[in-house]
Amino acid sequence: MAGGEEVDEVVRVLVTGGAGFIGSHIQDALLDAGHEVVVVDDLSTGHRENVSERARFYQLDIRDERLREVFSSHEPEAVFHLAAQMDVRRSVREPIYDAQANILGSIHLLEMCRMHGARRIVYASTGGAIYGEPEHLPADENHPINPISQYGISKHTVEHYLRLYWQNHGVSYLALRFPNVYGPRQDPHGEAGVVAIFSLQMLTGIQPVIFGDGSKTRDYVFIKDIVRANLIGLDGTVVGVYNLGWGTEVTDFTIFDTVRAAVGSNVEPRYAPRRLGEVERICLDARRAKQDLGWTPEIALDTGIARAVEYYRANPHGFHV
Ligand SMILES: NC(=O)c1ccc[n+]([C@@H]2O[C@H](COP(=O)([O-])OP(=O)(O)OC[C@H]3O[C@@H](n4cnc5c(N)ncnc54)[C@H](O)[C@@H]3O)[C@@H](O)[C@H]2O)c1
Repeated sequence: MAGGEEVDEVVRVLVTGGAGFIGSHIQDALLDAGHEVVVVDDLSTGHRENVSERARFYQLDIRDERLREVFSSHEPEAVFHLAAQMDVRRSVREPIYDAQANILGSIHLLEMCRMHGARRIVYASTGGAIYGEPEHLPADENHPINPISQYGISKHTVEHYLRLYWQNHGVSYLALRFPNVYGPRQDPHGEAGVVAIFSLQMLTGIQPVIFGDGSKTRDYVFIKDIVRANLIGLDGTVVGVYNLGWGTEVTDFTIFDTVRAAVGSNVEPRYAPRRLGEVERICLDARRAKQDLGWTPEIALDTGIARAVEYYRANPHGFHV
């Protein structure tokens, strides 16, 4: 099922983190497909403007006791769990906050799923931060887990709880290990999201900084492809952990250069020392997702970056105002 298609069965869905970049696009696709959507978000990094008028919205931390009232009022059948502290550097600086939001928040959510009979959870895991410095590339799901940031540890820990709640309580799950996701609504004012940051900086005449020498690599997938994988996940038959990605390394300098071409700028980057917690290289083998979910990315990097740049030209805040 892809966004925009009519569905046979309307599902009551909760999206945590639905005011954020990825969650808000998933929210929109679910609504377009005819589902009922409730969004829970504490607006710590998300924006109220990203929440659709067609969705019910609760400004709430997922650790808050009042999450119980959301579950009893709406009895969601499926949950898309995007809410997280998602800044690698902040996790290094504030590991306790990171663990509280990402691990304890997720356990609280899973307890609600168990108690209120939610049957499906689709979890936004990360392929970029859990494998550590890779032993082979592209990294597949069986690559050793050696996170070098607290964020990588907290995101991976939740996968264990998901498996347990599936085995012990029948809450089926899909943990999607996202690559670097980019596209409209990514916050250009945060510390993560290099396409958004470079786009806004170049559009406003600020010289962008590349941390390291520009050779650091990531696997970049456009938001629309990521949303499609998530919506496939609403179908509860596939359970487990899946990488999403192209399986291709893209350097920081290539991102810089592609954004520069889309903006029509001739700025040169400044270089600064690389930062703690960030791996040097990563890209993800998503053959398992292709085989079991029928998912492969479709939107090429230059096309996706051109769309992102057009969005930031029109929306310099990173969200619609
Ligand atoms: N953006 C990427 O490239 C990427 C890569 C891998 C994984 N992920 C995961 O995808 C998810 C979404 O990331 P994003 O890029 O959209 O980030 P984002 O910051 O835009 O979205 C996260 C949302 O969660 C909300 N939130 C944070 N803590 C919360 C809490 N305790 N209670 C309720 N709401 C809370 C924020 O306000 C925000 O709206 C995260 O779980 C992240 O770990 C993202």
